[in-house]
Amino acid sequence: FEDFEGEGSGVWRYHAALPFDVGVTLPEGDTPLHEVPRIEEAAGVDSLRVKHEGMNPTGSFKDRGMTVGVRVAQEVGVDRLACASTGNTSAALAAYGARGDMETLVLLPAGKVAAGKIAQAALHKARILEVDGNFDQCLDIVQDLAARGEAYLLNSLNPFRLEGQKTIGLEIMEEHYADYGEYPDRIVLPVGNAGNTAALYKCFRELVKSGAITEDQVPKLTGAQAEGAAPMVEAIHEGLDETNRWESVETRATAIRIGNPVNAPKALPGIRETGGTAVAVSDEEITEAQRELAGEGVGVEPASAASVAGLHKLREEGEIEADESVVCLTTGHLLKDPDAAAEAGNDPEPVANSTEAVLEHIGAESSS
Ligand code: F0G
Repeated sequence: FEDFEGEGSGVWRYHAALPFDVGVTLPEGDTPLHEVPRIEEAAGVDSLRVKHEGMNPTGSFKDRGMTVGVRVAQEVGVDRLACASTGNTSAALAAYGARGDMETLVLLPAGKVAAGKIAQAALHKARILEVDGNFDQCLDIVQDLAARGEAYLLNSLNPFRLEGQKTIGLEIMEEHYADYGEYPDRIVLPVGNAGNTAALYKCFRELVKSGAITEDQVPKLTGAQAEGAAPMVEAIHEGLDETNRWESVETRATAIRIGNPVNAPKALPGIRETGGTAVAVSDEEITEAQRELAGEGVGVEPASAASVAGLHKLREEGEIEADESVVCLTTGHLLKDPDAAAEAGNDPEPVANSTEAVLEHIGAESSS
């Protein structure tokens, strides 16, 4: 890890592990690794930290990949950047494209993208196409556009995106070691297209290869998916290969409403070879975990909370041991999906415009 000391902030501090020294930056990375003592106790594990990737410039981990991806696009000299997205990739692409002064085109599944994400893509001036189909179908179309030379593809199929996302793993390993003198036993993360899982696995393989860590210090990669969109979980438990896909998917966690995880060929070996596993959680469990995180002051969007929901489930099943140190990844910020947050039922209470009325409303002693 000494190679990483020195210039640059966030992602680009790790340029020794990246294809360039600097990128189109806002800047990204350097996100908090929160202590969450109440969730730690409820889950019953030795230690639990939450790596909150919602604290990136556009509010999700996608920024780490986009800073590298857009830099590559500039090197290659393309005119138009494009992605399919459940929302966060489109927000990141729009912002980094704007930063790099490039044209951006995003394809979104109509009616299935959270409001905050569309607002970001719109204000950063992406051209937004709402497709009457799901994310997987949007990605098929973007791949066709790229094959015809109409756009440079910046989904996680683009390997340079994953290079940037490796830095999540580098930050976790460095900070966890600094705090505890050891690496985490396990990382639990929400899985959609499985790009992050693939990126973390590549990160750990490179750390082993460089001699920075040993094979037995690699954290167990543990994926969490929504029950209504869980082809990776099925593949892990049924021993299926990377071609396993679900035609029809549904979940409140729209960010991970994905049936054809295109990075499965890179991610499934990561889960299997690190001794990890995959777990499906219900929308109710996701909501519960989202509120639990909010109760520790950590505001995340629903998909992000799948990691904490997954931890609870795997602890109950005895799959995760009590003596483990665990890091849960939360991938996107609460404000991404204000409608989901409003469903917490904690609605504003109308009150008349006077101190007396407010005192009476809150049941204060001095109201009489
Ligand atoms: N969490 C959030 C908040 C996401 O936005 C995504 C993916 C994931 C988890 C899953 O990550 O694909 O690397 O397994 N969102 C993509 C998008 C698909 O278009 O924003 P993954």
